[in-house]
Amino acid sequence: MSSYHRKYIVAGNWKMNKNAVEAKQFIEELVVELGTQSDVGVVVCPPFTALESVARALEGSHYCAVGAQNMHPEPSGAYTGEVSAEMLRHLFVSYVILGHSERRAYFGETDDFIRQKVLVALENNLKPILCVGETLEQRDAGHMFDVVGHQLREGMRGVDASQLESFVLAYEPVWAIGTGRTATPEQAQEMHAFLRKQLAGQFSEDVAQKVRILYGGSAKPDNVEQLFRQEDVDGGLVGGASLEVRSFMKIIEVAHQLTEQEFATV
Ligand code: PGA
Repeated sequence: MSSYHRKYIVAGNWKMNKNAVEAKQFIEELVVELGTQSDVGVVVCPPFTALESVARALEGSHYCAVGAQNMHPEPSGAYTGEVSAEMLRHLFVSYVILGHSERRAYFGETDDFIRQKVLVALENNLKPILCVGETLEQRDAGHMFDVVGHQLREGMRGVDASQLESFVLAYEPVWAIGTGRTATPEQAQEMHAFLRKQLAGQFSEDVAQKVRILYGGSAKPDNVEQLFRQEDVDGGLVGGASLEVRSFMKIIEVAHQLTEQEFATV
């Protein structure tokens, strides 16, 4: 982490896993494990159908926030199967993952559509977790900075600098998602530093320092420490390893320990 202190965020992306009952059990266990730790921002992103049971199970707890995995930019209307920002707010959702590579690849989401969602999320006081990342072919061809830079620019066009403090970015190389193949700490740092530089150019240096940039892609208890130690890596967006309380807690614990170490050396 840099000398500019950014609180780590560890967000669990459950994808299409856990029904409402399983979600409730998970949260009840998690709440006990978390206790009153507050130096790491913890977020769980269940499927839509479990948002309500997660929010209820978290009632009265200030140590874990709820995120959705997607939303539609329109406030209401004839969009079968979709969910609006206002509907999410009603369920006490505070974060929303936007532009995940699975949405881009399997559901044809474009940068333009993702940007509409980003703007609507911010208008509705939902904190976007905007995902960017290149495929293996794009990396092998040396195009990763172009691809990711484009996704960032297009996804954030029209965002006001004043809204950036509640903005979260996630660098998720597509080749690392669910593959067991993690980016090396150096690869992650290189891309995160690039993203922060882009933000500084698009907004300002000061604002860029405040945006949390999470790493995602096969993040696990045994590889996050080196990733989280990188200056521009401010936490993780965790898929597979967020589905069990034990492994999710271990990742949170790493972020917690690094935060303590950082304060001990100030
Ligand atoms: P993974 O997924 O940790 O299972 O690779 C991460 C993500 O897609 O957000």
